[in-house]
Amino acid sequence: MVDSTQILLLGLVAALGYMTYHGLRRDPREPTFLPSKIPVVGHALGMLWNGLPYWGRMANENTGFPIFTLDMFFMKVYVISSTEIVRLIQRNDKTVSFDPLLNISTVNFSGIKNKRTLHLMLDKQSGGEGLNAEIMHAMTPTLIGEHLDRMNSIMMRTVERSISALEKSTDFDLYRWLRNIVTAASTEATYGPKNPYKDPEIVDAFWDFEYNLNSLLPNFLPWLTARKAYNGRGKVARAIYEYLEQNGIEGASELERVRYTKSMEREISHEDFAQLEVPMLIGLVSNTVPALFWALFELYSQPELLDEIREEIKQNALSVSENGTYRVDITAIKERCPLTLSTYQEILRWRTTTTPTRMVVKDTILSDQYLLKEGSFVSMPGSTLGRRPDVWGESAGVFNPRRFMKPDPSKDESRKNERRRTGGFMPFGISPIICPGRHFASSEVLGISAMMIIRYDLDPAGGVWKAPSTDTMSMVSIMGAVKGEFPVSIRTRQEYQGTKWGFHCEEGKGQFTLAVG
Ligand code: HEM
Repeated sequence: MVDSTQILLLGLVAALGYMTYHGLRRDPREPTFLPSKIPVVGHALGMLWNGLPYWGRMANENTGFPIFTLDMFFMKVYVISSTEIVRLIQRNDKTVSFDPLLNISTVNFSGIKNKRTLHLMLDKQSGGEGLNAEIMHAMTPTLIGEHLDRMNSIMMRTVERSISALEKSTDFDLYRWLRNIVTAASTEATYGPKNPYKDPEIVDAFWDFEYNLNSLLPNFLPWLTARKAYNGRGKVARAIYEYLEQNGIEGASELERVRYTKSMEREISHEDFAQLEVPMLIGLVSNTVPALFWALFELYSQPELLDEIREEIKQNALSVSENGTYRVDITAIKERCPLTLSTYQEILRWRTTTTPTRMVVKDTILSDQYLLKEGSFVSMPGSTLGRRPDVWGESAGVFNPRRFMKPDPSKDESRKNERRRTGGFMPFGISPIICPGRHFASSEVLGISAMMIIRYDLDPAGGVWKAPSTDTMSMVSIMGAVKGEFPVSIRTRQEYQGTKWGFHCEEGKGQFTLAVG
């Protein structure tokens, strides 16, 4: 009979064996290993408990190390808290790569089983043909120029209807409403008139999938262990399959057509393509919804700033046509509303939880000093890098809506010698993996926020703007997705009662020059 002392001993031997094995695996040229308070499994537990922000927390607590190693029991992570080291990672993008992480999307999130499709999609390092990465890169030119103009115009039409419908509302859940209008506008712009997400049941099924994404990670009997995500995915995939069979692609955006064409050229079936499409919507909406929420939260909760921005938009980006329709001009916001644009970027800096992650696909030495071992991960927590005083100055830890405005030394003596600092600005990623959807997302966030603040007053339930708790465990949202509801009451502002509204975005001018890392 085995007693509890024997079990304890057995555990100890296993732990020692594990540590010896890891000790052998450790190379003195690797960045300093930081021990955990709970031996062996402490960092892994920290991660399980706190999600990806655990790496940011460790970086904040250990800023003396520009790069350090965390042994996560089942993997090794090099955490970076210095912009100099980030630059070295950027220079080594062939051996410290983003592509293998796309495999998680194909295998776990899409749940592709077909061996041939898997082989085509997986990255080259894992023995696949790298089609997923190829499709991602092919999306970039479809999100600028005339293709972006077309998506923007459909998006603007769709959101204007929803914003106008608020005139008849008094109380509603702001987060859910934003979730629904961003999903409707982004999918309509992407999939065209036969948009499979027109059906609210399909929208709900997608969000069931998205909220429960982590349960798909183990990929072990997902129909049993990850029921909500699995069933949601199945429902959405069936709707997309129907869309493909009805040739919905004919009216789709260039973004969707490129994805479809590249997949069909490699003879991927409609069933598999439909399944691969489900996580695509994560990229389109999972960060835009919380970014928009925090934009409205910061503006409505700071009355002086709200007044200034309302005035700036009213003076420079609002016009009234001959038939009395008010028009919010997104191009003018971009070109003639510096405070609005700066506030938007500061909100992104302030609220982002991004942690660009890469995989070391070949042993790599950084500046003859740090060895990064093949098979390990690299994490660059934006919450730490985006708030470093050596990058952002003394005001790094303060919300400053004017931070991204060109300093006017004649007006502000203290900013005379300040250079524009962009290093460490990571909400849209860091080169060479910069979010190609940032122009579309920025039009959505700025356009919707501008029209909302001009037309409506908003009060939170309970009367106090208190930041709601966020889903720190989310694998995909890096803008602080809100947990649960955020009830508000709404009133049309006196001067705009009974008015008609629209948006404008000048053709060929949909791209934003934003700070990027
Ligand atoms: C406010 C909204 C958004 C934020 C904050 C955001 C943020 C990001 C970030 C940080 C990355 C880089 C990931 C990394 O380095 O690990 C990224 C990549 C990407 N984003 Fe976005 N994104 C947003 C909206 C969008 C939209 C609307 C689209 C599509 C229309 C999109 C499509 C993509 C794609 C395809 C990539 C991968 C790029 C590649 O592999 O080269 N994103 N995004």
